[in-house]
Amino acid sequence: MAPSVASPSAGAIMALLFPLLACSLMAIASAGNFHRDFQITWGDGRAKILDNGQHLTLSLDKASGSGFQSKNEYLFGKIHMQLKLVPGNSAGTVTAYYLSSQGPTHDEIDFEFLGNLSGDPYTLHTNVFTQGKGNREMQFHLWFDPTKDFHTYSILWNPRHIIFMVDGIPIRDFKNLESRGIAFPKNQPMRIYSSLWNADDWATQGGRVKTDWTKAPFTASYRNFKADACVWSSAASNCPSKKSSTDSASDDWWNQELDFTSQERMRWVQNNYMIYNYCTDLKRFPQGLPPECSLA
Ligand SMILES: *[C@@H]1O[C@H](CO)[C@@H](O)[C@H](O)[C@H]1NC(C)=O
Repeated sequence: MAPSVASPSAGAIMALLFPLLACSLMAIASAGNFHRDFQITWGDGRAKILDNGQHLTLSLDKASGSGFQSKNEYLFGKIHMQLKLVPGNSAGTVTAYYLSSQGPTHDEIDFEFLGNLSGDPYTLHTNVFTQGKGNREMQFHLWFDPTKDFHTYSILWNPRHIIFMVDGIPIRDFKNLESRGIAFPKNQPMRIYSSLWNADDWATQGGRVKTDWTKAPFTASYRNFKADACVWSSAASNCPSKKSSTDSASDDWWNQELDFTSQERMRWVQNNYMIYNYCTDLKRFPQGLPPECSLA
């Protein structure tokens, strides 16, 4: 557990002030600091928080990768992170950035960046797990080189949609189709996780291209974390207020969905940059495509 929430007196104060704090917590959560919001979980010094918490790097060498996770758990939110991926020959490396709850029936919302040879495109792999079941992969190439600069990768998760965005452009919309019998993540709080690791048995060109360890250490960088999100604490969310909220526009993620223009942009991405869609993989699902594929 995060040391910052271990103190019982802090817990007692929270309980007393909770109604007052609910709003301000959300505002505080907006300006991220890696020291305050995250903890390094593995990698024996390979993960580093720099510049007073404004910057984080993960690295991978032959002995180990590294990773971090958020101190908070969230139940719904709009979560942004800027990443700059491993440059040069990144074949075999995987940078995973995802939200996940715990346990055998966990929910999960995944971004994974699969490295490649210099000059060959990264693959952005996405997936959604509900109640422990995934198998909903969609993969993309990007319309820019994700190793040259920081780009923003966002997850909008509200009761009706999970929308994946890259630099504000939606690339995938997983809709709540519970009314049609398809589970949707809405009861299990999730933490943010990220890791950089070696997966050269499958990641690059189906595992044919191996990691070139003479190029190690491999490094990925993070900055500008921002969460407009419902923080889960003491088995409750600080967001019940949202349901009746008529707050400012910045809070509107709770009701956000894709308008016509955003749908057009998503279609542009999917038509031009999508390289795999489980919903069109008839070979993989000979008994029929997953039900959401014909409803989405
Ligand atoms: C690597 O580059 C090849 C050739 O352009 C491409 O087919 C593949 O999707 C790229 N990504 C990965 C992870 O192999």
